[in-house]
Amino acid sequence: MAKRPQVLIVEDQLGPRKSLEMILSPFFDIHTADLGKKALELLQEKPIDVVTLDLRLPDLHGMDVFRQIKRLHADVEVIIITGYGEFKTALDALHLGASSYLLKPFNTGDVLSAINRAAGKKRQIDQLKAFLMKIGGMIGLKKELSQGIKMLEEDSSLFDKVKALFERTDQEIEEERRVNHFEFIRTLIDAIEKKDPYANGHSSRVHYYSYLISQRLRLTELEKEELLIGAYLHDIGKLGIDQQIVQKKGRYTEEEMEAIKRHAEIGINLVAPLNLSPNILALIRHHHEYYIGQGYPDGISGEDIPLLARIVAVADAFDAMVTDYPYEYRKVLSLDEAAAELKHCSGIQFDPKVVSALIDTIEEEHDRILLKSALLADL
Ligand SMILES: [Fe+2]
Repeated sequence: MAKRPQVLIVEDQLGPRKSLEMILSPFFDIHTADLGKKALELLQEKPIDVVTLDLRLPDLHGMDVFRQIKRLHADVEVIIITGYGEFKTALDALHLGASSYLLKPFNTGDVLSAINRAAGKKRQIDQLKAFLMKIGGMIGLKKELSQGIKMLEEDSSLFDKVKALFERTDQEIEEERRVNHFEFIRTLIDAIEKKDPYANGHSSRVHYYSYLISQRLRLTELEKEELLIGAYLHDIGKLGIDQQIVQKKGRYTEEEMEAIKRHAEIGINLVAPLNLSPNILALIRHHHEYYIGQGYPDGISGEDIPLLARIVAVADAFDAMVTDYPYEYRKVLSLDEAAAELKHCSGIQFDPKVVSALIDTIEEEHDRILLKSALLADL
């Protein structure tokens, strides 16, 4: 079972403290503090996710406690509890990065939705950190990334910007979240590929060819977005494979090929902290399946292969044909030669309707595609 979010209630009056505890304890692990000093001590000791902070405390001013929390624990979400007459202070706190505020006396629904939202944001940030650390370890940047994360934690304004990028609250901003994910992933993959001159621009081009194909197939808007995110991520599992094998010039030995084949499954594990949709995960897993079966990792065939994976399979192969990869031993094909090669493999390696979609586009927009592919060659 997933770990329950840890909530710290900072409130000196017994009544409101007990009522918050009663509302929240079925869903969250609760800690309480009746003084500001005690609250700051507890934050040092426990992995608190969300704080509800009453601004009127007997020892310290609530705003000072708030500033201390943000300075020392920037990723902890703080919800301001306010009574009549303190509204202005609550607004100040919002400007300084508080999640939201709640008015006394409490309404159960408001309390639960505010805490849920804050806990969701915190979880998202934790996932982002876990993902960055994992990736950082793989590309040999663990130290730099952990320093970067520390910097984020120490600079709450910077942290809030990243949080805004990754915020997930509720359904209304679901769409925005997907876009944010996409921007984040694109930046990350471009940065990773820059470290490997052989892969430079590959994901962007696969993304572009997938986009061209998607324009001619009947996909929902959601499927199109998932396709474009997945196209960027399809080979991320290669980070988990010995780079000497990945960048080897010439043919792979059987053993090396087995190692390479693992990238589809490694990719799924790697992106697990990002909480991506099942369609994107299926794309990453199955982009090397063959239409007649016998591909990898599962050897499934035809319509059993998820459509988005069939699209990326064509886009990926097409890029390998038309791009001059230093480690490839075959000759670079022109767009027309590559189209002929795709046709040749249609119904065997590739889904015929996906191949037709790309070939039709190439026939109609040959020069534009040539130009755009060239521009993406050296991002
Ligand atoms: Fe791949």
